[in-house]
Amino acid sequence: MSSRAPIRVAVTGAAGNIGYAAIFRLASGAVFGPDQPVALNLIEVGPGLDALAGVRMELEDAAFPLLADVVTTGDLDEGFRGADWCLLIGAVPRKAGMERKDLLGINGKIFVGQGQAIARSAKPTVRVLVVGNPCNTNALIALRAGGLGEDRVFAMTRLDENRAKAMLAAKAGVHVSAVRNVGIWGNHSATQFPDFANATVGGKPATQAIADHAWLRETFIPAVQQRGAAVIKARGASSAASAANAALDTLRSLHFPTPAGDWHSVAVLSDGSYGIAKGVIFGFPVRTKADGSWEIVQGLTLDAFAREKVAITEKELLEERATASEALGLAL
Ligand code: LMR
Repeated sequence: MSSRAPIRVAVTGAAGNIGYAAIFRLASGAVFGPDQPVALNLIEVGPGLDALAGVRMELEDAAFPLLADVVTTGDLDEGFRGADWCLLIGAVPRKAGMERKDLLGINGKIFVGQGQAIARSAKPTVRVLVVGNPCNTNALIALRAGGLGEDRVFAMTRLDENRAKAMLAAKAGVHVSAVRNVGIWGNHSATQFPDFANATVGGKPATQAIADHAWLRETFIPAVQQRGAAVIKARGASSAASAANAALDTLRSLHFPTPAGDWHSVAVLSDGSYGIAKGVIFGFPVRTKADGSWEIVQGLTLDAFAREKVAITEKELLEERATASEALGLAL
């Protein structure tokens, strides 16, 4: 094994569908590279702990050369101890007919305890990615409840980015790898704004590669917004493998510098960029710098249509923040 110190990743909901799809790829080196050992702190609750014992056996049976250590636990402090990354997946998932914000009261409390335990037990340099929905506001709850660093807590909009790229590629008749610069603005919800106007296809503006602008505005946007619901309807369960994949894409994109001219989508604490309200966890196009820090991509054009869409998702996030603050008795 490489002599590098392992990157310790704590995962909640580790035996659930998304966790199960994520941890084997983490252990294989698919995220941090073939020379970087990984340690896994796997956290579950209640009956999930029995399943987790089986997952642990399977990790042993995979004999991963890069896997330096595995902790399995139901205790948050033990689980987050020494973590470089916390991947917060565990949450009550959305069922058919529910919007993500219906989960706010149910899941909000979980993220208060997790934010506090991360502050107590993880490394001071820890980074946190929230996947459990409603992920933007859950991330804000964890950040504020734990007093975590404002540049260290993220919520996942990468699944939406990947979905948007696949749909733009199919429409333009190109491979998905030709589609770049897709920003997801705002909430990981049905109000998100998948920004086609700044996207590129084969290096050209997507609006040139795709002549059907009515499709971009009227079909593409709702299709991305509703894709999670479409998967739930078809599968009878919310997306899992694609969500795990997007979570790992997010970790990789925040760990390694972003290729020149591109960006990736992730929700971060708004600093007021583009006139968006400060203090909500808002999806932006983000670039990771060579020193490992990140920045919101500046200078993009948002036309009147885009501004209108961004205002809708901003309003929803402000409402979620108010609802959660009241429900939890916390100043978010
Ligand atoms: C998704 O986008 O597939 C997940 O966030 C699940 C959901 O509730 O839509």
